[in-house]
Amino acid sequence: MATYDTLGATYGRTRQPDPRIAARIVAALGDAQDVINVGAGTGSYEPPRTVLALEPSRIMLAQRPQGSAPAAQAVAERLPLRDNAADAVMALLTIHHWTDVAAGIRELRRVARRRIVILTWDQQLFRERFWLVRDYLPAVAAFDDTRAVPPGRLADLLGGARPEPVPVPHDCTDGFAAAYWRRPHAYLDPQVRAGISMLAQTGEDALAPGLNRLADDLTTGRWHTRYADLLARDTVDVGYRLVVAEGV
Ligand SMILES: C[S@@+](CC[C@H](N)C(=O)[O-])C[C@H]1O[C@@H](n2cnc3c(N)ncnc32)[C@H](O)[C@@H]1O
Repeated sequence: MATYDTLGATYGRTRQPDPRIAARIVAALGDAQDVINVGAGTGSYEPPRTVLALEPSRIMLAQRPQGSAPAAQAVAERLPLRDNAADAVMALLTIHHWTDVAAGIRELRRVARRRIVILTWDQQLFRERFWLVRDYLPAVAAFDDTRAVPPGRLADLLGGARPEPVPVPHDCTDGFAAAYWRRPHAYLDPQVRAGISMLAQTGEDALAPGLNRLADDLTTGRWHTRYADLLARDTVDVGYRLVVAEGV
């Protein structure tokens, strides 16, 4: 069973596409006439020129809004498509879930005529810069170390790529891991955590000590004193990257 058949039941509730990130993705797709979305989930960020969405989880496929692009069940490692099937292929916040990243990227290169757009994150920056994993949940950081794809490796697999920083807005509507960096109470909400795979897959027992400490720091005001500089910011760069490969 696909992992998101268990994780994905409430995805649509906390993971709404953020318009500022959507604009960045549209810009990265550039003049591509047709787009295939791999690891498409519920269809977030698919521009109208999306011709096909591929996704292994039935639960995620079932949450795609009516009228969205045609979709089929498939994994990145074996795309049921001919070579050069579309101008652009995009894979957003998904490559860390693939069982064989090298095979998946080979497939994206085979299927994309001109451009690949990947949204992912630099785990080293994420560990250093994101207060939740750095200061409260080191076990979560260790879990992500095992699955995050290092930027150098990704660039090699793509045969060269341009990484573009994606700052996270303080009111980001797509509830991924760092989306609530300026809304710390959100991490105490089980429904929010259910939509964040690094928290959902780590397990509540391992999270409890760090989350209890966070709850305490929020009650006493220690969190607000310690991270006062964050409260004055509108965006942060904690390592999310749009990785664009041209002429693949
Ligand atoms: C965090 S969700 C992202 C979904 C969507 N791209 C988005 O931005 O909202 C990760 C998705 O990757 C999918 N996934 C997991 N393993 C995969 C694989 N081997 N190939 C393709 N997609 C996969 C999951 O089922 C899930 O829908």
